[in-house]
Amino acid sequence: MMSERIVVIGSNGQIGTELVTELRKSYGDGNVIACDIRRPDYDIKNAGPFEFVNVLEKDILKQLFQKYKPTQVYLLAALLSATGEQNPKLAWDLNMNGLLNVLDLALEYKTARIYWPSSIAVFGPNSPKIQTPQLCIMDPITVYGISKLAGERWCEYYFHRYGLDIRSIRYPGLISWKAAPGGGTTDYAIHIFHDALKKNSYKSFLSAETELPMMYMDDAIRGTIELMDAPAEKISIRSSYNLTGMSFTPEVLGKEIKNHIPDFKLEYMDFDQRQAIADSWPKSINDTVASNDWGWKPGFNLSKMTESMILNLRK
Ligand code: SER
Repeated sequence: MMSERIVVIGSNGQIGTELVTELRKSYGDGNVIACDIRRPDYDIKNAGPFEFVNVLEKDILKQLFQKYKPTQVYLLAALLSATGEQNPKLAWDLNMNGLLNVLDLALEYKTARIYWPSSIAVFGPNSPKIQTPQLCIMDPITVYGISKLAGERWCEYYFHRYGLDIRSIRYPGLISWKAAPGGGTTDYAIHIFHDALKKNSYKSFLSAETELPMMYMDDAIRGTIELMDAPAEKISIRSSYNLTGMSFTPEVLGKEIKNHIPDFKLEYMDFDQRQAIADSWPKSINDTVASNDWGWKPGFNLSKMTESMILNLRK
C-alpha cells in the first residue's frame, strides 16, 4: 500500500477535487499527483504535488509518466453530456483520444491499474428504463454517451488484448457540494440546493417527473476506491460497472428540500435541451453485478443526501 504512486488527471473537477483529498489520506500527500489544465482552486494545491497536464498533449503526458512512473492513474478529464453537445468534436477528441493516450502510456510505463469513469449516458432511448441491467441495448444519443460507450469497448479491449488492469464505473448523476459540477444533465440536482439556500426558490431545467439515477459524492468516492482496491479476480466487468445510490425526480427532491426549508418554491422551465438527454437515460439502475463482485453498497439515500448537502452548504 505504501509504495503506490497515484496520478489523478482532471483533479480540479467535481470528482477529482474529492478523490485527490481521499487518496492523499490513504497514500500520503506526496504520493498522489494532482493534474489538470487549470490551476487548482481548492485545497489540492497546498497539500501535495500538482502538474499542469492536457491529456491531448501526448508528449507532456509522457513526461508525466516518465517523471512519476505511476502505479495507478485515474483519468477524470472529460466533457460531460450538456457541455459536450455544445462542442461535439472537442468532446469526442478529449474523451476518446485522452483515454487512448493514457492507455498507451500505461502500457509503455507498466502502470499497474487504471481508473476511467463511464456514465449512465451510455444508455439510450431503447435501453430498458427501469432497473437498467449491466448488459442491454445501448444506443446513446449524446456525443458524451457515444464517447463513453466507445471508451468502455476500448477498456475491455486493452484488458483482453494487453492485460491492462482497467476498472470503471458508470456513474449516475453525482451530487456534491465541494466543487462545482462539470456541465451535465443531472446538474439540476446540485443547483437546486444552492438556489434553495440563497433564494428559497429554484427553476428546474428538467421537468417535474423526470426520474434519474443519482449518487452522493461520498458514495461515489468510496465506491471508486473500493473498486480500485478489489482483488483483480473479483472484477468480472472490464467495460464499466453499473452503480447507483438512489433515483428521484425534481418534484420528489423539491419535497425533500421543503422538509428543511419550508418556504422553498420549485418552478420549471418551459423548454430546455437537456430534457431530451434526460428522457433518453435510465430512471433507475440495476447494480447487482457490482454488489456481487466487489460488495458495493450505497450509504446515502435521498433524505440522508439532502440533509448532508444542506448542512454542508450552510456552513
Ligand atoms: N452527470 C453526468 C451528466 O449529466 C452523467 O454522467 O452528464
